[in-house]
Amino acid sequence: MMVPTVFYFAVFLTSCFFVSAHNSAERLYNDLLRNYTKGVRPGVESNRSLNLDIFLTISTLLNINAVEEVMSVNGFFYILWRDERLVWNKTEYDGHSSIMIDPSLLWTPRILLVNPARRFQIFGTYSSEIRVEFDGLMIWTTGDLIETNCNINIRNYPFDIQTCDISIAPFGYLETEVNQSSSFMVQFDMFPHGNGEWELVQTNTADWYLSGYKFSNFTLQYKRKYQFVLTTIIVPILILNVMSLVVFRIPPNCGERISFAVTVFLSYIVYLTIIVDNIPKTSSPMSLLSLYLIAKVSMSACITMATVFIVQISVKSPNTPVPGRIVFLMSMSSKRRTARSKVEDPAENTQDDAKRIKTKSDRAEIIANVDRETESSLTTGCHNLGSKEPTWEEVAIYFDTILFFFFLFVMLLFTVMLFTFVCANA
Ligand SMILES: *[C@@H]1O[C@H](CO)[C@@H](O)[C@H](O)[C@H]1NC(C)=O
Ligand SMILES: *[C@@H]1O[C@H](CO)[C@@H](O)[C@H](O)[C@H]1NC(C)=O
Ligand SMILES: *[C@@H]1O[C@H](CO)[C@@H](O)[C@H](O)[C@H]1NC(C)=O
Ligand SMILES: *[C@@H]1O[C@H](CO)[C@@H](O)[C@H](O)[C@H]1NC(C)=O
Ligand SMILES: *[C@@H]1O[C@H](CO)[C@@H](O)[C@H](O)[C@H]1NC(C)=O
Repeated sequence: MMVPTVFYFAVFLTSCFFVSAHNSAERLYNDLLRNYTKGVRPGVESNRSLNLDIFLTISTLLNINAVEEVMSVNGFFYILWRDERLVWNKTEYDGHSSIMIDPSLLWTPRILLVNPARRFQIFGTYSSEIRVEFDGLMIWTTGDLIETNCNINIRNYPFDIQTCDISIAPFGYLETEVNQSSSFMVQFDMFPHGNGEWELVQTNTADWYLSGYKFSNFTLQYKRKYQFVLTTIIVPILILNVMSLVVFRIPPNCGERISFAVTVFLSYIVYLTIIVDNIPKTSSPMSLLSLYLIAKVSMSACITMATVFIVQISVKSPNTPVPGRIVFLMSMSSKRRTARSKVEDPAENTQDDAKRIKTKSDRAEIIANVDRETESSLTTGCHNLGSKEPTWEEVAIYFDTILFFFFLFVMLLFTVMLFTFVCANA
C-alpha cells in the first residue's frame, strides 16, 4: 500500500502550498488596503506633483465622418504612476512582487476627453484591474470608443489629409498636482492603422496649458484613399466633359441635340449632388471639386442655350437672307483657309472649310483676324461679300465649329485650373 500513502502525501503537500500562497496574497491584499484612503491622491504627503505616463494605442479607426466632423476610433490608454502607500517587502509575502487590485478600491486618475463629439467622457468604464508592483508602480489599462470633434478641411477632396486631435486632461487637477506626459505606444504595431477609406500617415503629441491646467493632445493625421472617388466620380466627370462637347458634332437641324445637351446638364447635377452629400455643409473653404462642378454645370447650361440657338438658325426659312455681317465673318474665315490651302496644297477642295478648322491655334488666329477685319469693315462701311450666299445650315455649322472650340478651350482651362490648385495645395 505504498502508492496511496505517497498519493495522500502529495495531496497534502500541494494543498499546503496553495493554502499558504493564497494566504500570503490575501494577507498582502488586506494589508495594502487596510489603511488606504482612495480619495487622496498619491504624492500629497510628500507635497509633490504626481507624474502620470499616458500611452495611447489606437486599435481601430472606425470612421471619419466628414459631414458631421467626427472622428471615431477605438483606443486604449496605458497609464502608469507611483503610489508610495502601496509598497511592500517581497520576502515578507512569499515573494509576491505584484498584485491585481480592482480600480474601484484605489485612487485612479480621471482622464477626461476634452474635445468630445457628443458628450464629455471620463475613461475607465472598460478597464483592467490595476497591476500594483511591490515598489508602488501602478499599471492600468483602460479602453473605450473615442469620438472627437475634428475640423474637416475638404478643400482638396478627394486628395485631402485630415488632422484630428484627441485632447485629454486629468479632470480637475492642476499641473502642480497631477502632471501627465503623453505619447503613442509604438510597440503595438500589430493593429491596422486605418480602414478602407483612410490611411494613418502621422502621429504626434503636444501639450497645451490653460490657467494652470495641463492638456495633452494626441494628433492623428489621416490621408484619404482617393482611388475610389477617382474612379467613381472624377473619371466619369472627365468623360462627361467630352460628352458635353459632342453635341456640336450632331447635325444642326436635328432636334435631338437639345435633349442630348439637357441630359448632359442633368448628369452634372447628379454628380454635384453626390459630392455635396459627402462634404460638410458649412465648410469655410469649399471643395475645389464642387466649385469645378458648379463651373461645369454653368458651362453645360451655356452649351444647352447655344444648342437651342443653333437649332433655331438652322431651321430658318431659306427666304430670309443671311445678315451681311455673318456672311462677312464666314467669308473672312473661308478666304483665309482658301488662301492658306492654296499655298499648302492647291488641289485641295475648299468648300467645307469651316469644318476643317481643327487646331486651337487656327481658331485663335481666325477669331483674332475676324475681329480685326470686322472692326475695320464696320468703320469703313465696306462689306466684302463672298462670291456666293451661304445657306442658314452652313451658318449653323459655322457657329457649331466656333462654339465647339470655344467650349473645348473653356473646359481645358477649368480642368487645368482644378488640377493646378489641387496640386499646389497638396
Ligand atoms: C494602519 O493603521 C493603524 C493605526 O493607525 C496601524 O497600527 C497599522 O500598523 C497600520 N497598518 C498598516 C498596514 O500600515
Ligand atoms: C507644498 O510645496 C509648495 C511649494 O513647493 C509650498 O508652497 C506649500 O506650502 C507646500 N505644501 C505643503 C502642505 O507642504
Ligand atoms: C524584507 O524583509 C526581510 C525579512 O523580514 C528583511 O531581511 C529584508 O531586509 C527586508 N527588505 C527590505 C528591502 O526591507
Ligand atoms: C489640441 O487640440 C485642440 C482640439 O482639437 C485644439 O483646439 C488645440 O489647438 C490643440 N493644441 C495643440 C497644441 O495642438
Ligand atoms: C511636468 O512634467 C514636465 C516633464 O514631463 C516638466 O517639464 C514640468 O516642469 C512638470 N511640471 C510640474 C509643475 O512639475
